[in-house]
Amino acid sequence: MSDFTLATTTQEPNLDTAMKVVYQWNYDPEVEELRRLYVMATEAQWVAERDLDWSRPIDHVKFGTTPLGSGLPIDRTSYWKSLDEETVWELTKRASAFRLSNFLHGEQGALMVAAQLVNAVPHTDAKFYASTQTMDEARHVEVFARYIQKLDEVRPIAPNLKSVLDTTLQTGDWIKKLVGMQIVVEGLALYSFREMRVLTEEPLLKDILTYVARDESRHHAYGVQYVERCVPLLSDAQRAELEDSALEAAQTVVDNRNQQGLFMALLESWQEAGIDVAELFATMQRERDDLARDLPKVRRLGPVQGFVIPTLRRCGLLSERVAARFHEFLQGNLGSRIVGEDVHEFLRRVPDLPEDTAAWLLGEVS
Ligand SMILES: [Fe+2]
Ligand SMILES: [Fe+2]
Repeated sequence: MSDFTLATTTQEPNLDTAMKVVYQWNYDPEVEELRRLYVMATEAQWVAERDLDWSRPIDHVKFGTTPLGSGLPIDRTSYWKSLDEETVWELTKRASAFRLSNFLHGEQGALMVAAQLVNAVPHTDAKFYASTQTMDEARHVEVFARYIQKLDEVRPIAPNLKSVLDTTLQTGDWIKKLVGMQIVVEGLALYSFREMRVLTEEPLLKDILTYVARDESRHHAYGVQYVERCVPLLSDAQRAELEDSALEAAQTVVDNRNQQGLFMALLESWQEAGIDVAELFATMQRERDDLARDLPKVRRLGPVQGFVIPTLRRCGLLSERVAARFHEFLQGNLGSRIVGEDVHEFLRRVPDLPEDTAAWLLGEVS
């Protein structure tokens, strides 16, 4: 007998959305660049089961090169180094499962927003393109879920990510949906994918991230090309509202104060695995001078300044007004050394977008 049921405990139903559906009776190309991107996307489809070798076990030694993603030099403390190999693997796989699970849940959000965009965007080419992205995101959900199950188990979504996905799904304004998902959420995800793909030497994970990165570079191109076409047609008030919605989405995801939930869940899981988390932090505190000395001296921009803001600027969504608000919150999170003393210095440090996003994502250009 089948155990198939309509309702399961894993469902979270009833998120009300305000999405408006737009028919478009003109089927001729109107936005040529999006039509081209749609054709490229149909040609670049891949099949997770066929194109990736899932029979490979996860290589534990090579997996050690995957960044833990905590933002703290935990793995360089003497406490961590004193742990036996088995415990280090247990902690590493738990931390990575948390991080990859948030990629996975973000992919589910992207899947549902892409499907909404098919309905909500007003141009045929943009609907066509969003349909290919929907397929891409389904595949991304599939591959991340499968990899996490091989590694450990799927962990819960971080509250700040859930909140930004809810807001993006709920808005009735298609262009806010487009900016929230294609520019902010995907921009932040791209930055993390790139870091993980460049550093990890685990073969299956690297292959997965290579396939995903190629798709994501098109998703980014869709956001940029569509939004930069539309922004000059908005009123000043509409543009300011859109800028503010991008700022709020970025702030929700990256603000330190909003990231505590996930980190606490990870620490709890480490405690369950048998380590003394309080002692780990006490060691980090005692050794902070040595740890700071070993840190790379180059100033690294975070994902907002390094990628999301350059994208917003390219799309005409970075007035000095909103740049000042970005500077203020990033200064609180990262300090002036990274973001600059004032908004002018901050803007001078904003890099240009990479010319070839796919090559950048694959770590072929810096
Ligand atoms: Fe994706
Ligand atoms: Fe995407």
